[in-house]
Formats: sequence, C-alpha cells, structure tokens
Amino acid sequence: MANIVMTNACNLKCPYCFANEFVNHDKDSISFEMFKEAAEFILGDNKGHIGLIGGEPLLHPEFKECISYLLDNRNVKSITIYTNAVLAEKYYNELAAEKVRLLINCNSPADMGDAAFAKMSANIHELVVNRHMKDRITLGINMYKADFEYDYIVKLLLTYKYDHVRVSITVPNCEEGKNRSAVDDFIAIKPRMKAFFHTLLKYGIQPRFDCNKFPVCLWDDSDKAEFAGYYVDKKDELYMQMLNVECNPVIDITPDLTAIRCFGMSDCSKESIRDYRNIEELRHYYLNEFDAYKFNTVCDKKCVNCYNRKTMHCTGGCLSYKVSAITELRNAAAELMNNG
Ligand SMILES: C[S@@+](CC[C@H](N)C(=O)[O-])C[C@H]1O[C@@H](n2cnc3c(N)ncnc32)[C@H](O)[C@@H]1O
Repeated sequence: MANIVMTNACNLKCPYCFANEFVNHDKDSISFEMFKEAAEFILGDNKGHIGLIGGEPLLHPEFKECISYLLDNRNVKSITIYTNAVLAEKYYNELAAEKVRLLINCNSPADMGDAAFAKMSANIHELVVNRHMKDRITLGINMYKADFEYDYIVKLLLTYKYDHVRVSITVPNCEEGKNRSAVDDFIAIKPRMKAFFHTLLKYGIQPRFDCNKFPVCLWDDSDKAEFAGYYVDKKDELYMQMLNVECNPVIDITPDLTAIRCFGMSDCSKESIRDYRNIEELRHYYLNEFDAYKFNTVCDKKCVNCYNRKTMHCTGGCLSYKVSAITELRNAAAELMNNG
C-alpha cells in the first residue's frame, strides 16, 4: 500500500505532527487528474490497497469525486483513510462503503479542543453504531510526551468494546530528529506507556504498534514479568510485537506528485513519481538508497554493539533519527562509486 496526500490543509494543529513540512504551509490539494494519476501509479495493473492521508483528507474540495473514483475502480481492494474524523459527517455514505477502512487519530480534548473532540466522538458513534463500521475502524493514539493523556481513548475503546488500539510513539520530522537519540525518547515515554498498557490490558484491549516500535533491548525481564500475566497462553504478545522492530518505505505521494519515503524522512527523500515506471521501482529506489543503510547506522552509541541491530532485527527507532548518518553513508558510497 502507498498513500496519496489529498491536501496539505488540516483542521487541527496536532502538537506532534510529523507532516509539518507540508501541513497548513499552503492549502494545496491534489487535482482530480493528478489524483487519478497517483492512484494508477500505485495500482499499476494489479489489484491493491490505497491510503488517503493529509493534512486532513476529508478537507479535499473534491473528496466525493476522488473516493467515488476509487470505489468504482475494480483494481482497488481497499481504501484506508487516515483522519481525525472531525468532519466525517459530510461523507457518512462514502465512508461506510465496504471497501473503506478508517484509521481515526484520536487526540485528547485538551489537544484538539472540546468542540472538535465532541464532533469526533459523535462521528465515531454514528459510524460504529449506526453504520456498522466497527470492524473497519481502528482508533489510534499518539504517545508524544512523557505525560500524554489516555483516559479519553480508553473511554472510547470501552464504549465501543474494542479489543485493540493502534499506538504510535511519535517520531520527529527529520530536521528536528537529526541530533536526537531515539533511545532517550523511548526511555522518556516508557513509564507512561507502561501505565497506559496496564490500563488497556486490564480491560482486554491489545495495544498494536504502528512503526517506531519500542526496541526489545529496552524491555527487560522485569518488564516482561510485569506484563506476562495478561496473556493466558504465556506467549508474551507485547514482547513479540516489539521483537521485529523493522521499518519499510511507506511512500506518500504529495499533491504535486512528489513522493516521499515517509513523513519522518520527507525532506531528504523527494522523488517525482513521473521519473519511475511504477510504485515497485520507486519502492526499490528507497530500499536501495535509504533502507540499505538502516542497520549500519545508529543514533545512539548504545546501539553500536547490539545483537538485534547486527542481525537486522532492530533499526534502533525511526530512521528519521538517523538521517544525518544515512546521508553520510550514501554520500560516501556515491564517492566510492564515482572514484571507481
Ligand atoms: C499526518 S496525519 C494526517 C491525517 C489525519 N489528519 C490524521 O490526523 O490522521 C496521518 C497519521 O500520521 C500520524 N502521525 C502524525 N504525527 C506523527 C508523528 N510525529 N509520529 C508518528 N505518527 C504521526 C497520525 O497518527 C496519523 O495516523
């Protein structure tokens, strides 16, 4: 799957947003013609999945036309919409279509404002209860500071009897991440994350990590023992989720058809999709030019001698923390090739 950035406009100002290179600097939206071009680029001749992201995708002035185009396209198996759901009432019918899945990014009332929170909650209610979308909606939370709030999302999850939730430890946009240690950020968020996970698991709700998973080396035996009791079959699922701390190119296509590997690496990975024959070749470009270096760079000295890094199980956090190191290695490799 790859995503189309429908618009740079957003109705919220999330304090942690990693799309900050684009969001609300201009209000550019992808034209319908370019939207179709991006969709065809992602699909090629195959059946596949498409993500719609932003900004806030529901702010696109021709959202109805765009989604109808995908709904009618027999090559589109599913459409995942990344949304804050505040504006969802405009498109209940389209969103309820069978092919659509929603990843609803739930911010706290303090972060999004009481009025927006009330609208998001009302829309979740309508879509889950009256439009029967529960199995196609995933609620998510961004753990972005050491005292992040979570009571509000636990209430939502309990209200709608969800047994899982998407959890993200936020990553920096690459410019601000260049001189930081991902390890320090993980350590800072850990106490609150653990308290949150205890609350979730007590209610039988499984946290499911997005990318930037918590490295296994920071989850010691006492942590494992603390959480083992939640798992009847003794298989520590939380631990298993953390074991494979890989990351792969997401590929977001922006309104002018510039692709980026992911928002965390937006400023160093821009490529016009028109320079590539198809999405697979663009993916290979990112794998070769960025991912090839991901296990041989560190943002923290603690990772240098790590077994999981050396055996390609852990990148030590999001690559956006390692942009400088990756760029240096890319440049060195280019120089070697140029000098024969
Ligand atoms: C940039 S938002 C745009 C779409 C929509 N407005 C929303 O809020 O979901 C897309 C996704 O990025 C995630 N996101 C935003 N900032 C992030 C960060 N700093 N680290 C990790 N994920 C982030 C959100 O959780 C959301 O699922």
